[in-house]
Amino acid sequence: MPDLSTKPDKKWKRFLRNWEFKIAVFVILYFLFSHYVLENTHVVGERGLRNHLKVIPEEVVDYYGKQPVEGAEKLAYAQYATNYDYLNLAIINFAHLRKGGTKIPNLVILYDEVLQYHSAQMWNNLYQVANHYKITLRPVHLIKVNYDDDTPWAASFTKFHIFNQVDFDRIVYFDSDSMLVHPTLDNGEISSSYSNIDELFNVPKELEFALPQAYWLNNVVEGKSALKYRKKVEIPDARRYGLRMRKLVHDISETGDWKLLPSLIFEAHKFDNPDNFFANHIMVVTPSKSTFEDLMKYVHNPVRWSLTNRKNLRKKTDYDMEILNKYLNNELKSGRVNIGILPHRVYGVLTGEFREPWHERFVVQPQYLPFIKKRSNRGWDAMKTLQKVKLIHFSDSPIPKPWEMEEGDEEYEHPYSTKLIFCKTGNMSEYRAKYSHFKPRLVDDCDSVEVWNWLRNQFKKEREGIWFSE
Ligand SMILES: *[C@@H]1O[C@H](CO)[C@@H](O)[C@H](O)[C@H]1NC(C)=O
Repeated sequence: MPDLSTKPDKKWKRFLRNWEFKIAVFVILYFLFSHYVLENTHVVGERGLRNHLKVIPEEVVDYYGKQPVEGAEKLAYAQYATNYDYLNLAIINFAHLRKGGTKIPNLVILYDEVLQYHSAQMWNNLYQVANHYKITLRPVHLIKVNYDDDTPWAASFTKFHIFNQVDFDRIVYFDSDSMLVHPTLDNGEISSSYSNIDELFNVPKELEFALPQAYWLNNVVEGKSALKYRKKVEIPDARRYGLRMRKLVHDISETGDWKLLPSLIFEAHKFDNPDNFFANHIMVVTPSKSTFEDLMKYVHNPVRWSLTNRKNLRKKTDYDMEILNKYLNNELKSGRVNIGILPHRVYGVLTGEFREPWHERFVVQPQYLPFIKKRSNRGWDAMKTLQKVKLIHFSDSPIPKPWEMEEGDEEYEHPYSTKLIFCKTGNMSEYRAKYSHFKPRLVDDCDSVEVWNWLRNQFKKEREGIWFSE
């Protein structure tokens, strides 16, 4: 009897060993295969990027603005809203565009379909104002990965619906917590008038997407190879740069060739920042079903991706910006897409920039970003900066956004008051009276203080102008 029981056992063990061994070999081979073959089939090397990623300078966008906008009936501005506050903001922005004489007939707000039902009164009020300004309200379903995620970014994937609005040839999208401005300085007084950004519809169609660079996140490249580059690259002074731009605009107006647009100088600059190179608070977009479907794969990873595409699996901390960057990164590497970098100083400015102690990352043109010193203010002038801005994005966390402020909030100090700035030569008795614990930072750059406060006040004026005037 012992014979019978031990023999099959040994066989089984031997078999198991074999079986495990085979699986192990298979897994290792598969891992190597998928890692080095499936995921590294880049057609575009670092050099190929030159032809697919282009910087669109302010001067060239100005030139686009002087050309007529064609085929406007197939063009649209778009924003999205997942709550009533943001729907209200989106309406304010579009009313501004109407008053600013936009030539684009389609102003489209994609809203979470449930907003129609939650509060009939809110909805009716907003609907009427939208109607008054001929704004199109389009219901979409919320795109969220994790329904328990309560962070403000959880529903940000909903933004991707703009890529799916294929009845338009081209869309200029911006976040609804932005504000359109057209500031002028007269005798030291800042004022603003209604405006539009129609020029963005003339960004060449060959650039399927155009977005600003997330200049505030990009790593200033460190290390040996960067130093070698930094020595070679000279950032042109304003005069030389101006001459270069005049020539560029002239050449583009003669040939219409978008390939004349500048490229990045140090291309690792792009691939060293895989998840945060592009900002997406403003975008020029060519809608397409396949782009939308691809993006949805990056959001809701197909099961097979855990075997074949682990590198692109969505991480817990990935939201709309990281996902879009991953997608664009891969499209660029495979040479399937051309992308333009919008001038962030005109369309991509964050209100928080005026509270920053160092500004050179903001000041330089995108292609020179890797070659600057981070802690420098060379070329910064708050008033000059403001006068170029056409779209400003409210971003001052942890300071509440202007529409989140309660009545009287501004009169008192709060823990976030330490993040405010106050002019050193300003009214110090006001400073001492108002702030006893949480004191704002005192700064020499009083223009920045003035601009930051002006932007907050301008928001209130803007809101009143839309709601209480005809
Ligand atoms: C300075 O602030 C104090 C206290 O808020 C106020 O009474 C005073 O009028 C201010 N002075 C000037 C010159 O604005």
